[in-house]
Amino acid sequence: MSMKLAAPALLLPLVLAAILHPAAVVAVGDGTPAGPGGGGFSLRLVPSPGWNRTIHVDDDGFVHLNEHATTALRPPMHTQVGGMYSVVTSVGTGAGRRTYVLALDMTTSVLWMQCKPVQEPFAQQPPPFEPAKSPSFRPVPGNNAFCLPPDHEDHPTVQDPCKFHSIRLDGSTDMRGVLSNETLAFAASGRQAEVAGVVIGCTHNSNGFKFNSHGVLAGVLGLGRQAPSLIWTLGQHRHGAVQVHRFSYCLPNHGSSDHHSFLRFGDDVPHTQHMVSTKIMYMAATAGRDFSAYFVSLTGVSVAGKPLHDIKELFRRHVHGQEWTSGCAFDAGTPTMVMIMPAYNKLKDAVVRHLKPLGLQIVSGQYHLCFRATSQLRQHLPTVTLQFAETEARLVLPPQRLFVAVGHDICLAVVRSYDITIIGAMQQVDKRFVYDVRNGRIYFAPENACHADAGHQI
Ligand SMILES: *[C@@H]1O[C@H](CO)[C@@H](O)[C@H](O)[C@H]1NC(C)=O
Ligand SMILES: *[C@@H]1O[C@H](CO)[C@@H](O)[C@H](O)[C@H]1NC(C)=O
Repeated sequence: MSMKLAAPALLLPLVLAAILHPAAVVAVGDGTPAGPGGGGFSLRLVPSPGWNRTIHVDDDGFVHLNEHATTALRPPMHTQVGGMYSVVTSVGTGAGRRTYVLALDMTTSVLWMQCKPVQEPFAQQPPPFEPAKSPSFRPVPGNNAFCLPPDHEDHPTVQDPCKFHSIRLDGSTDMRGVLSNETLAFAASGRQAEVAGVVIGCTHNSNGFKFNSHGVLAGVLGLGRQAPSLIWTLGQHRHGAVQVHRFSYCLPNHGSSDHHSFLRFGDDVPHTQHMVSTKIMYMAATAGRDFSAYFVSLTGVSVAGKPLHDIKELFRRHVHGQEWTSGCAFDAGTPTMVMIMPAYNKLKDAVVRHLKPLGLQIVSGQYHLCFRATSQLRQHLPTVTLQFAETEARLVLPPQRLFVAVGHDICLAVVRSYDITIIGAMQQVDKRFVYDVRNGRIYFAPENACHADAGHQI
């Protein structure tokens, strides 16, 4: 699969990924390992590392990209940064246990990391996982249902390596490796919880992720809903383990430096009575990575209260030859909104129409739609509302969630795509999201203090 984003639009998500402060690698502590007990636990959610020098948040809440730095960031622009928010987790047992920071990606279903030995390793902190030192590490047998078919014609055997191939929904990260079975550990009610039998992918040649790691990230936590993802594993009947079907997060704004935020599971997930919800689509399509992402039915977009016409069909997922394309998904691992081209054009036209009375010139540049920033413009930027299948489920995006300041300009922070729409991290900030994977619903509601999310700290 090739890169699917419209090339000129790539720079923006790349730079947006730099909005946050680098992650400090947080030791989860060496408390006595214990089972998940009550069935609630949390992983620390940290800003992805890198590039914070290039960005700040204005007093009025707008994300500001430094123009000079933007140009300086040109070389790695062919790859999209692996997620704006990352997750801290300990992997392995005994002498092999290490704590890593993994980029969050909700569009794929494999948790993968560099494992020794690595050809052409990318820099990360701490050094790559060493399977040989972890007594709980087991290769997944080559005849397991999760494995790709082997290269040779014969039936796969137990001895064959169990290969995986993981591609982000937007095509930006493409990783191959071998699946294994490991134990993860993370915070639970002030102690450490272990989850055994988690399928992790080991990559031994991971060149493609070089620019995304920033010398820190060890890999990606694929949190899609399908096997063999972490949330899928937690939902299985497993000996002695509590079943967990829900997870939740509340992404803090980029400015807050000493924030606490958690990816919460099971009993750590807050109640949802006050939230609106929308259906996760294609729940019956359980096989194949084409449906691992959290697709929703986006039925309308309005700009300053005015609905865009004939837009619903553009967000529908449909089969095209052998492949499924289009559709709209939520992903906290995509820096900002990605929108399918015809819908983007309607959105852009509506924004231009809304701002026309100001008589501002559209600035041509590397971004698709920018205006010279004036205080008048800032006051007149429209609020955009996303409308989901159920009438009450609307996601309201104030201007700070959809526009960024770039040098002297203000630009629409929406990336054009040929075949996908993704509601990204920037649009989700300061809202609580709860994903109920068993019942196929996503709940959300505004939350003021995402940066003070207490979770279960150690
Ligand atoms: C960027 O991150 C580093 C490391 O956390 C920190 O020391 C520095 O102050 C940050 N820079 C800005 C501009 O926030
Ligand atoms: C991983 O190991 C557990 C036992 O700890 C087992 O129940 C599970 O089936 C294994 N998963 C795979 C994919 O091999």
